[in-house]
Amino acid sequence: MRIGVLTAGGDAPGLNAAIRAIGEMGLRDGHEVIGIANGWAGLVDEFNGTALTAADLRGVIGQGGTLLGTARFNLDKPPGGRDRVLAAIGEHLDALVAIGGDGTQRISNWMADRGAPVVGVPKTLDNDIPGTDYCIGFDTAINIVAESLDRLHTTAISHHRVIVVETMGRSTGWVAAMGGLAGGADMIVIPEFPITMDEIVEHTNRRRSLGLAYSLVVVAEGVGLDTLGGIESSELSGENVGGVRHATRGVGYFVAAKIEEQGGFEVRTTVLGHLQRGGSPTAHDRIFATRVGAAAYDAVVAGKFGMIPVVRDDNVVLAPLASVSEGQRKVPREIYDLCTIFF
Ligand code: F6P
Repeated sequence: MRIGVLTAGGDAPGLNAAIRAIGEMGLRDGHEVIGIANGWAGLVDEFNGTALTAADLRGVIGQGGTLLGTARFNLDKPPGGRDRVLAAIGEHLDALVAIGGDGTQRISNWMADRGAPVVGVPKTLDNDIPGTDYCIGFDTAINIVAESLDRLHTTAISHHRVIVVETMGRSTGWVAAMGGLAGGADMIVIPEFPITMDEIVEHTNRRRSLGLAYSLVVVAEGVGLDTLGGIESSELSGENVGGVRHATRGVGYFVAAKIEEQGGFEVRTTVLGHLQRGGSPTAHDRIFATRVGAAAYDAVVAGKFGMIPVVRDDNVVLAPLASVSEGQRKVPREIYDLCTIFF
């Protein structure tokens, strides 16, 4: 078989571990494994695929990024983009494994509905693809958030300051909530459970009245500025898949300015940004990516197309692509309540 593999959307630590699993299993069984460059972009014009060799896959399990390259590419922009990809799959490949987030899986589902032999793999450090407990990249991201909070705590305490830490999380608060819990954040603000600016300031004031003149306030980038009394920037309405640049709205800076103004604290802001996505994956991400990569390969060989391996209660199971293609998995009340216990 000629099995294509692509990574689409934002990169995430662990992608190479998934590519390695698919590649090494394919080579072991005598298949040709074709690495498609730069996500869907590598299929829409010239076919941009190269057969992977054992040497390509050596030593990559611990490397961040993606050896295939990736792109935020809106397939609906070039005329007939989706149909051109369908044609390229038909002409060059017997199967395609698409590793990516919700947007990628929506496209994969569309392709599979039209008979393309596509299998997905769940990746997004936002960890919000529906139907799976984990996505590639999430564990590394929350470890980076936790380590950053450990470091920021010592300086916040020394200077009696409030430090606002903005994390990734375009639509949901998984990274802020779980990274914040692990790093002992003093307050965690996420899109799923809106609170007002007054409540945030009140919390830092209450801590000060208890003798805790410092606070680490973690804010997910996707928190609605309007719910905090700010004005949403027009950039939010970007229609391109890469057009929604939440970090540029500056929700962290907005919260920091208000705490300074209303609470009279000395405040600093740290936007963790792409530090959460770069560098070496954790052992958990390497293992998880290997498990879902291997399961995707098995699905391809078994001809189970239109499916995606997901993890539920620590078991990897196959789910229909359609079941992960709509909406986001939100942080549940039980996790949020934990975030609010600690002051
Ligand atoms: O979707 C994952 C994500 O990391 C979001 O949390 C973040 O908003 C976005 O990607 C950043 O994307 P880019 O790398 O295109 O700026």
